[in-house]
This record gives sequence, structure tokens and C-alpha cells, in this order.
Amino acid sequence: MSFKSHSRLATLAVALISIPAAAFAQSVAQTPPMGWNSWNFFAAKVTDKDIRGAADQLVATGMKDAGYIYVNIDDTWEAERDANGVLHTNAKFPDMKALADYVHSKGLKIGIYSGPGNKTCGGYAASLGHEEQDANMYAEWGFDYLKYDLCSFGGDVMRKQAPNDKAAQMKLMIAAYEKMGKALQAATAKTGRPIVFSLCQYGWDSPWEWAPALGGNLWRTTGDIEARWQSIYDIASQQDGLASYAGPGHWNDPDMLEVGNGKLSLAENRTHFSWWALLAAPLLAGNDLPNMKPEVKAILTNKDVIAINQDALGKQGKKAYSDGEVEVWTRDLQGGAMAIAVINVGSDRYSTHPFHLNLEKLGLHGSLSGKDLWSGKEVTLTNKMPIELPSHDILLVRVNHPK
Ligand code: GLA
Repeated sequence: MSFKSHSRLATLAVALISIPAAAFAQSVAQTPPMGWNSWNFFAAKVTDKDIRGAADQLVATGMKDAGYIYVNIDDTWEAERDANGVLHTNAKFPDMKALADYVHSKGLKIGIYSGPGNKTCGGYAASLGHEEQDANMYAEWGFDYLKYDLCSFGGDVMRKQAPNDKAAQMKLMIAAYEKMGKALQAATAKTGRPIVFSLCQYGWDSPWEWAPALGGNLWRTTGDIEARWQSIYDIASQQDGLASYAGPGHWNDPDMLEVGNGKLSLAENRTHFSWWALLAAPLLAGNDLPNMKPEVKAILTNKDVIAINQDALGKQGKKAYSDGEVEVWTRDLQGGAMAIAVINVGSDRYSTHPFHLNLEKLGLHGSLSGKDLWSGKEVTLTNKMPIELPSHDILLVRVNHPK
């Protein structure tokens, strides 16, 4: 369905019946959101020009065609509120409406950032006491996505209003997210433009249990990612046990991609991307698109790996077992297919000797034909087969008919 007809339908639906908040949220993010976010590379330096450049590059590099649709402005666009409470943009972002129009003109969508406290994590003005006003402004500008970051809310409200009472603090936090969720739904009802609601509160107080009900489409499950293997590995490990909370319209968010950033090796970039695909994580690239190396582009645009991430079943993958420093992860896919990943998570140049794949531990038997999604070659997986992998590298195989 086209976006236009989708919007018209949404407006019509609101006119006819009153839809609970969560129902609207279901109409977006049916697969994990894909796009680009400014924080991991530009951080506080991001400007209007960088956002336009990112939009141009998503188109020019073929990333848009591969599914990367959202261009998300993170923190540091904000200036001060005026006497009417209207939040103004700072000099780096002279005209948000014009910027949103530009991004839309490329067939892309655009995202913005705020938080429930007085201040964002970068110390800029956030939305406390102005939730509806801000939500309406984002909608009027034409935004399609909001990342809402806890930051100063803990000190401004939680610890002030409920000192030493963790349960009461948690209620205050949930209420704050609910307030913005409702404000976004109301704004959407006026404009017909759905807004993806991304909760960022670092996985405190199990957001996977309460975020979907208040209209959250994704929620961070951990602290901030860094462009280092240890950070990527730790975050992937922390996703254990969360798979059942993900599904169409509502996803666990292990944070944005660092593919192409820092000193990650090609193997690490490949493994990071594959892992996020298996985890049904949002695929928000965070690299310097105008200066992207061809090998990084090849990773970010690997259609087979993206297809694992975007699989319509929406079932998050899991770690099946580990053997020494080798981990085996699987993800169930539409039509009975399966993704199987073998990862050398150790720092040894080659995986622990000897590593033998145990298909029985995956509930599988016999020999399985599949496609190695990084070499593009057909492969056969057999029980007890030896597999050798360089440090931090991955074998990712799609098996269409597991048995
Ligand atoms: C927090 C978030 C990051 C980023 C920064 C911006 O640290 O977790 O993803 O949005 O704030 O200040």
C-alpha cells in the first residue's frame, strides 16, 4: 500500500472510531525500522547539511533501494523555548520544515529526537511539560519518527518526586513515555502521518514488558553502543531472553549500527551486521555515508542479510549454544526457513580447534543445503562438520528447508 493511501486510511479510521494508542503504532514498523541516524558518527556536530548529505547518499549508494528509509536527526538540533513555549532550532538547523520536505522529496522519511526530562543527554532543551506542543510541532514539520531519550528525567522528576522509591520512580517513567505516546497519536490523528515511537532508556526496568502497550515501536535494551568489538559482543550477549518480546510493530533495540565506524575490522563489521539481522534489530546505519568505503557499503547493502532482518515472521533469533569461544545462533524465518550463524567470538586468530557444528543441538538432522550469505555460495551443513573461522568472523547460512 502506498504511503498516501495508507495515510488516507489512517485519517478515515480515526474519523470513524476511536482507536486505542497501541493500535495506531501497529501500522508502522511491521518489520524493524531501517535507515540512518546522525549520532554514531557526527554526534553533536551534525548540521542540516549533513542530514541532506545523508539523504542524498542513501539514494546514490543504493541503500534506499535496499530498504534504508529513515534519516534520523539525533540530539543537538535544539535551541531555547520562547515565551509561548515553542522550542526553536539552533543555527545548525535553520529550517526544519524545509529539511523534512527535502528528505521527503527523495522518497525517504525523517526522524527527530527529544526526551521526557528538561534536558536531553547532550544538555539541550527536552520536552518536559511541553509534550503535546512538541509532538504537534514535529507532526507539522512532517516528522515520521521520534527517539525519546530518558536522560535528565531521572533527576528532574523520578528522584525528586519519589526519592528512594524505585517502584514509584518506574511508574513516573512509564507515565512520561505514555504521555508522549498519546501526544504522538493525537498529532497523527490530525495529520494522518504515522510517527514511529522509539523509546531510549537503556533497558532499565524491562521496557520490553511495558513499552508496546503505550505505543512504543522499539525500545533500547542496553546502554550506548561503541565502535569496538567488546561493546558489540556485550550488547549481543545481553539480548538473551528477550526474543519473545519482539514482533511486528514492536522491537527490541540493541542500539544503532557502528558498521564502518572506528577501527572495526571487516570481519567485525560483518558479524555486527549479521548479529543485528538475526536479532530483528532496527538497522540504523551510523556511519559517514559520503565517505563510505565500498567494502562497508557491500556489508550494509547485502540483500540476503537484510532479508533475514526484515523477515515478515518477525521472530527474533536466539543463541542456540556455545562451544568454547564459538557461538551458534539461529533465527526462524517465514515458510519454515532458518538462518544459522556460527561466530568466532574469541580473540584467537582462528576458532577454537577443533570446532564441530552440532546440528542435533539445533534440533536438525542429516545434511542441509543452504546459502552462505557472505560468500554467496551454496553450502551443505552436516552434523559434526569442522568449521574454522578467523577471530570475530561469522558463517551465516540460510537454509530454506531445515529438517
Ligand atoms: C544518549 C543515547 C544516544 C544518543 C545520545 C545523544 O546517550 O543513548 O543514543 O542519543 O544520548 O545525546
